[in-house]
Amino acid sequence: MSEVKKLTAPQIEAMKVSGTKITVVTAYDYTFARIFDAAGVDCLLVGDSLGMVIQGRSNTLGVTMDHMVYHTHCVARGAKRAHVVCDLPFMSYQTSISDALRASGQALKQGHAEAVKMEGGEELAEHVRAVVAVGIPVMGHVGLMPQRVQQMGGYKIQGRGREQSRKVLNDAKAIADAGAYALVLEGIPMELAQKITKEVNIPTIGIGSGPHCDGQVLVNYDLLGMFPDLSPKFVKKYASLHQDIDAATRKFIEEVRSGTFPDEAHSYHD
Ligand code: KIV
Repeated sequence: MSEVKKLTAPQIEAMKVSGTKITVVTAYDYTFARIFDAAGVDCLLVGDSLGMVIQGRSNTLGVTMDHMVYHTHCVARGAKRAHVVCDLPFMSYQTSISDALRASGQALKQGHAEAVKMEGGEELAEHVRAVVAVGIPVMGHVGLMPQRVQQMGGYKIQGRGREQSRKVLNDAKAIADAGAYALVLEGIPMELAQKITKEVNIPTIGIGSGPHCDGQVLVNYDLLGMFPDLSPKFVKKYASLHQDIDAATRKFIEEVRSGTFPDEAHSYHD
């Protein structure tokens, strides 16, 4: 049996040149990672969105490096081919270049990630440059940056209007010039995402940024339909797992109460 080869940061970067769209899904544990990996997703992002979907917080700000390391290691165990990226949490890397180096090193040494992701534009370029200089691939993230939710006053589309769109474009260029190998574009108009995708030489991975990016990312629980009440415009639900899990759980309760589970087929004999 031939061994499955890991997708690397340079191979992800080269997909822009070959015109192969990059597929990214968030993952936070071994079981989901195995399923997404076997299905052929290119990259598993251990997003700090776990603060919301796993930990039940109202935003990502309380997530720590220890949380990220724990979940990244779980995901890494399930990824045979997919490239694994650890999202650096709020205030683990913004505070100084040495903190960015330390957090990135931890993500690779303890979390077994193959790259890190950082939110930020021009002001973060030197941090990215320093981390790349020691051999750690960095995925950038510009546009709507959830770690700046307090400053934005909510999760609002960024880069509308001439001044704001120029700012996002400059941020994207600064992060690409600093040596990032890929760039998440979150929550920006599709026309701006198209322009950035043309003007930077690294792949853009869109979320809520239209179809012209070099790849797309979705939070796995959104993609799988785990939140029936939450439907932002950019999310497409490819399954209805909330309903399926609800129905399965109700059936289990009913069968245990009625005594039809476990039956002979699910029981052992002496
Ligand atoms: O934390 C996350 O899941 C992310 C993606 C939505 C890009 O940053």
